[in-house]
Amino acid sequence: MTILSHTENLRTPFYHYDSALLSRTLEAISSAIADSPSFHVHYAVKACATPSVLSRISAAGFGADCVSGGEIVRAVEQGFRPSDIVFAGVGKSDWEIRTALECGIAAFNVESVEELDVINAIALEMGKVAPVALRINPNVDAHTHEKITTGLNENKFGIAAEAMLSVIRRTQSLEGVRFVGLHFHIGSQITTFGPFEALCHRINALTDTLRREGISVRTLNVGGGLGIDYDYPEAHPIPDFESYFSTFKRLLHLEPGQELHFELGRAVVAQCGSLVSRVLYVKKGVDKQFVIVDAGMTDLVRPAMYGSFHKPENLTAAVRGESSEETYDIVGPICESSDVFVKGYRMPRAQRGDIIVFRSAGAYGEIMASQYNCRPLPGSVMD
Ligand code: LLP
Repeated sequence: MTILSHTENLRTPFYHYDSALLSRTLEAISSAIADSPSFHVHYAVKACATPSVLSRISAAGFGADCVSGGEIVRAVEQGFRPSDIVFAGVGKSDWEIRTALECGIAAFNVESVEELDVINAIALEMGKVAPVALRINPNVDAHTHEKITTGLNENKFGIAAEAMLSVIRRTQSLEGVRFVGLHFHIGSQITTFGPFEALCHRINALTDTLRREGISVRTLNVGGGLGIDYDYPEAHPIPDFESYFSTFKRLLHLEPGQELHFELGRAVVAQCGSLVSRVLYVKKGVDKQFVIVDAGMTDLVRPAMYGSFHKPENLTAAVRGESSEETYDIVGPICESSDVFVKGYRMPRAQRGDIIVFRSAGAYGEIMASQYNCRPLPGSVMD
């Protein structure tokens, strides 16, 4: 079905996911790593946990990167094997640690000594040994939006590189945890390969130190972060996975038997999702015209939170063959002045009832929706 035909039965706003594009994206990832059997992708569930999306990703053979007990439960429900699930996050609650241990996940990505000690105690209490990867802060600048950069020393995430050796020794001395690897993540929406190159060099230096100490590292996990093209989604529906993975193939020194894990979120799902809205009013202001749609920052918070651009497209105007253009601010109905999708945007003349979609909204869109103003959460549909 088309998006427009769904708007006859479904209440707007809702999310639409394009399963053909999702499949092509998953195939592009699989083919880019086909010649590297030690490479494994754990999809970052935080980007989009809609069941129809998750079940396709698990069926394609990917693992899952979770950041809460709720995500672990959802991932297992949607077909991910616990042995393909890793669990990250700076603030894991006791019940979440227990849930992960009961499931038998592949690894906890541990972010502090304090957390390590709690996981050890809970595992001992449960008669289990928790596999642990230590999240090391590589102090690499991702050159991305300040709210989504994570690899610098002043961030709340991870263990300082200087403390790595002593925390590994501590892990090895505890009976309820087993050291399995190192975890890194430098940030999100990274659109050049320089930061990933810097990460590879940094990891090589750190693992050299460990080798000299006689410590072997079974898995290296380089996190996620590969960005997408929000400005021209139709020109670049699938990110350049070949170049991304080849950066690691070229630069990272892997030992025989060592595994390399990736935690891509946005790059997997962003382009396959659109937020579908309806024009409520075309309002003439003093100096500008507003298109007021029925979707708002409660449905897609990224423009208000990060100043992000999600390309608007008026599907009805295209069908109508609208020939004239106007300049609009496209805004939502929420009682917040930041409830704006885009300002001063030139597009075909809009009318009440037109369907406007916001592209590239598959990642951090539906999952970040809220019920502010007692609004219902947006629904979703996949074709
Ligand atoms: N691994 C870790 C440890 C992470 O913290 C993240 C994202 C990922 C993997 C996945 O990163 P991705 O491949 O999606 O870039 N809400 C923000 C993005 C927050 C990203 C948080 N961490 C946004 O809408 O842009």
